[in-house]
Amino acid sequence: MIDLRSDTVTRPTAAMRKAMAEAEVGDVVFDDDPTVNRLEAVIAERLGFETAMFVPSGTMSNQIGVGVHLAPGDAVLMPAFAHVARWEGGGIAASFGAVMVHIAGGPDDDGLPGVAAFERHLYGPHPKAPRPVLIALENTHNWAGGRAYPAARIGEHLAWARGHGLARHLDGARLMNAAAATGNTAAELAAGFDTVSVCFSKGLGAPTGSCLLMPRALREKANRIRHRLGGGWRQAGLLAAAALHALDHHVDRLGEDHVRARALAELLVRHEIGTPLHPVETNIVQFEVHPRFGTSEGLVAKSRAAGVAFFPTGPKTARIVTHLEVDDEAVARVDAAWKSL
Ligand SMILES: Cc1ncc(COP(=O)(O)O)c(C=O)c1O
Repeated sequence: MIDLRSDTVTRPTAAMRKAMAEAEVGDVVFDDDPTVNRLEAVIAERLGFETAMFVPSGTMSNQIGVGVHLAPGDAVLMPAFAHVARWEGGGIAASFGAVMVHIAGGPDDDGLPGVAAFERHLYGPHPKAPRPVLIALENTHNWAGGRAYPAARIGEHLAWARGHGLARHLDGARLMNAAAATGNTAAELAAGFDTVSVCFSKGLGAPTGSCLLMPRALREKANRIRHRLGGGWRQAGLLAAAALHALDHHVDRLGEDHVRARALAELLVRHEIGTPLHPVETNIVQFEVHPRFGTSEGLVAKSRAAGVAFFPTGPKTARIVTHLEVDDEAVARVDAAWKSL
């Protein structure tokens, strides 16, 4: 089976498993896991932040990242299809008592509505209105088809938010993909945000784990939220070793995933499987399913039977994702499988 469901499906390589097996470990809650401490120092330095916190998932990292800025009755402004808006169980409301304001763009929306669309939701200060305190952006933007926004584009939103006294959170689950696609460094794309979440478990190929970057002043509050969410893990150095290995060995190759995603997008069209809904900038292709399959479920079932797995994203749309385990031979096998559908 060629697995194009997500870049989270990768399994640790033999070299990564060796690094994990040899990791020195301690107790994270007691602050003495040397490998976790090293990972936090390395990623903080690399992205230009004072401190980083290693947590089990991108969802927890985002939730802590937004939570450090929020009080009950506050509002978070974010693109309508951001992960933190749609796929985190309503955590902003459930855990922090804050309101999620989903910003929809115009017809040309590529996942990052313009500043004017955010501005329309900047009601207040008014005693009757929730208090907007934070914008949360996503780069690359998963649901918009892995779109990557260069630093200059994000800079407009950051300057606007700063001008209105809003804090700024970035869901950078695939920040390294964004860097590979835009030519900006990951540090350039992270600059100007107060908190940034990065995942090691997606394109970077580690089994699980994310880091939240932040200024030291937010660390105590972040620690408290992490514990409340059950994220006070112990010998997590085993997993931090995988993340460190990924930073050393799996960042420079991300461009290959982008090239193969474009190759698969061409195959979608050539074999009348579907039509990409956006320019393919990174490792994700959202596409409209060709009408001959009826529904996306119909296509997904046929493709799976032919040995290529992916997910529907709506009744007529689906998504494919490339990653560490999709090499040129896998692309050739997809070509052969789709030709026969
Ligand atoms: C953009 C984005 N942010 C956050 C997450 C959450 O990561 P996790 O699955 O580790 O909770 C995902 C997961 O796919 C994602 O795509």
